[in-house]
This record gives sequence, C-alpha cells and structure tokens, in this order.
Amino acid sequence: MASVPDPAVLTAAFPSLPRALKREMRSNHAGELGAVWIYRGVLEAGLPPAGKTRLAPLWRLMGFGLGCLPALLSPAAVYRTIAAVEAFVDRHYGDQLAALSGQRAFEPLAAVLGQFRAEECAHRDEAQAKGPARAGGPWAALVFQGSALGAALAKRI
Ligand SMILES: [Fe+2]
Repeated sequence: MASVPDPAVLTAAFPSLPRALKREMRSNHAGELGAVWIYRGVLEAGLPPAGKTRLAPLWRLMGFGLGCLPALLSPAAVYRTIAAVEAFVDRHYGDQLAALSGQRAFEPLAAVLGQFRAEECAHRDEAQAKGPARAGGPWAALVFQGSALGAALAKRI
C-alpha cells in the first residue's frame, strides 16, 4: 500500500454512486484484498517455517480491528492509529538494524529491513501530516504498547 487511505471519501461517495460503479467499488475491495496477499505471498515464501509466526489468525484479526474500529469513528482516529503503529514499527526495525549493524554477512538482510522501515516511516509521516494536530494521547499510547506486546509475543510463538 503506497499511502494511507481516507475512508471518509468512500463513505461519502458510495451511497450516491450508480449501481455499476458500486459494483466497481466491490471489485476494488476484492482487488485490494488480493494485492495485500500477493505481497504477503512473496514475502512469506522466503521465510522458512521456523521463521514464521504460528499466530497468523490473531495478527490478521488484530490488524483488521486496528483498521476497522478507528475507521468507524473518524478519519482522525485512523491517522492517529496508523501513526502510533508505524512509530512502533520504526523502533522495531531500528532495533533489528542495530543488532545487524556491522555484520557483513547480514548486509543484504539489513538492506531489506531498512527498506521496510523507510516505507513504514513514510506511512507514519503521512498519517501524522493528515491526522489531528495534537498527536499522541491515551489511544496512541495503547496502540504503541499493544504493538510492542504483539511483537514480543510473536518473537516467541
Ligand atoms: Fe505501513
């Protein structure tokens, strides 16, 4: 996903769309779901079984909830959530890159992780730019700490 979508645009436009375009939106939904899984398929094929989480259904559910619940509230809630998740992801990849730093054998892996980190930081910056002026707050702290808890769990299971 190149950028953070504004769910309010779709919510506002959908009811007044002609039937054919409503069908087009449904095909977009299928396409976006498929696109996410194309990238996941590419990435997950590279990891041996020992490197994969066994809690994939939990992460799908948590991810969906973290997208859907704020989207039901407001675009500001979506941006606040994404900014908090990506702030955690920045630290997460940053820790891994620090652990890999100076190890020549792992330079290609560090390059890939650095690319992931840059993409997620771009999402964070975009969410911060589009989101409410007042960042942070209890929800952002909960999302950040919840992400940290999820990552800690995923390191073990
Ligand atoms: Fe992201």
